[in-house]
Amino acid sequence: MIYLDNAATSFPKPESVYQALDRFARTSLANPGRAGHRMAVAAERSLDAARHALNQYFHGDAPERWAFTLNATDALNIAIKGIVNPGDHVVTTDLEHNSISRPLHALEQAGVITLTRVVSSEGYVDAGAIRRAITPATRLVAMTHASNVLGTVQPIDEIGRLTREAGALFLLDAAQSAGVVAIDLRTARIDMLAFPGHKGLYGPTGVGALYVGPRTDGLIRPWREGGTGGDSSSPGQPRHLPYLLEGGTPNVLGVAGLAAGLSWVANHEPDALRRHEVDLLQIVVDWAAGSEGWKIAGRWDPATHVGALSLIVPGDLSPQDVGAILDTSFELAVRPGLHCAPYIHRNLGTFPDGTVRLSPGAFSTPEDVLAFTTALAEITAGVL
Ligand code: ALA
Repeated sequence: MIYLDNAATSFPKPESVYQALDRFARTSLANPGRAGHRMAVAAERSLDAARHALNQYFHGDAPERWAFTLNATDALNIAIKGIVNPGDHVVTTDLEHNSISRPLHALEQAGVITLTRVVSSEGYVDAGAIRRAITPATRLVAMTHASNVLGTVQPIDEIGRLTREAGALFLLDAAQSAGVVAIDLRTARIDMLAFPGHKGLYGPTGVGALYVGPRTDGLIRPWREGGTGGDSSSPGQPRHLPYLLEGGTPNVLGVAGLAAGLSWVANHEPDALRRHEVDLLQIVVDWAAGSEGWKIAGRWDPATHVGALSLIVPGDLSPQDVGAILDTSFELAVRPGLHCAPYIHRNLGTFPDGTVRLSPGAFSTPEDVLAFTTALAEITAGVL
């Protein structure tokens, strides 16, 4: 199988991640913080070490500001549902994955918030449009760093700055950027940062993280409540981080894998990992420019792109057909369809069938993407 679906989850993982998962599962997979025996203490230590590693990598304010979550969706739900109040206005964009769009839609439908969805152009959100959407009632600007459909990287420094100037909070979904685009929490004016462990950080599925910055102190409420190991006598959730946001046994094995993935990523320049993927996409962009009918969705600007690219399928073929043929006849894994991001497909005119998205990863090669373009040429040769 030639795997070009790293925007869904990265594969393969670095060898050190497989080794860390195996080692941890065999020696330390106890319940962290729930007892004083040495295995429980070892598990708790590994969580602490991972919080420190995340804090160091992203230059956060303190390790305890990192809560482990199930994935980015879980982190975004904790952030959104924990911070908005009745009557708040929220600004978002049409680039969002359903992990942001659906919680906001539900809150809007329930009459809790009002919502403005800023429309992007060729895959990019204009910071000025975000500024114009902000009102005195705006509590939150919630948006993606990089589109999971188009791979386009958004101008978050400017958006973070103007959101802060307006007194609102900035929630960033870094599902497609963490590990490949440098994020510096000292300068980026991000109040809450959410990402999964299993994409650009090369951990396993079932683990993610949410960073909550100082401007959320005293404001964020736990969306999920439950056991935390300590403070068992208290009827309510502990008020201190990270336990405020971490009810229930964490996926400590997943965190061990995430820490190993992060350690691998931290040994690379983020931009080197991003450039490797974008250089591979450039081969596809050049091929599409000379092809019969295949078109790239969104604007191609390699400097502001991560490793995901959508192709608009020509003729009567559907993206689902192309995805199925690539899988069954060419052993190529890509993701066709709407990619859980319906609003941007409406904007592009590709709703409801969507596009064919390829997303190389750190271990993908030029031969992999050449196999992809050759397969596309063969699939359409007899049809167009
Ligand atoms: N959010 C993931 C994707 O874009 C699953 O494919």
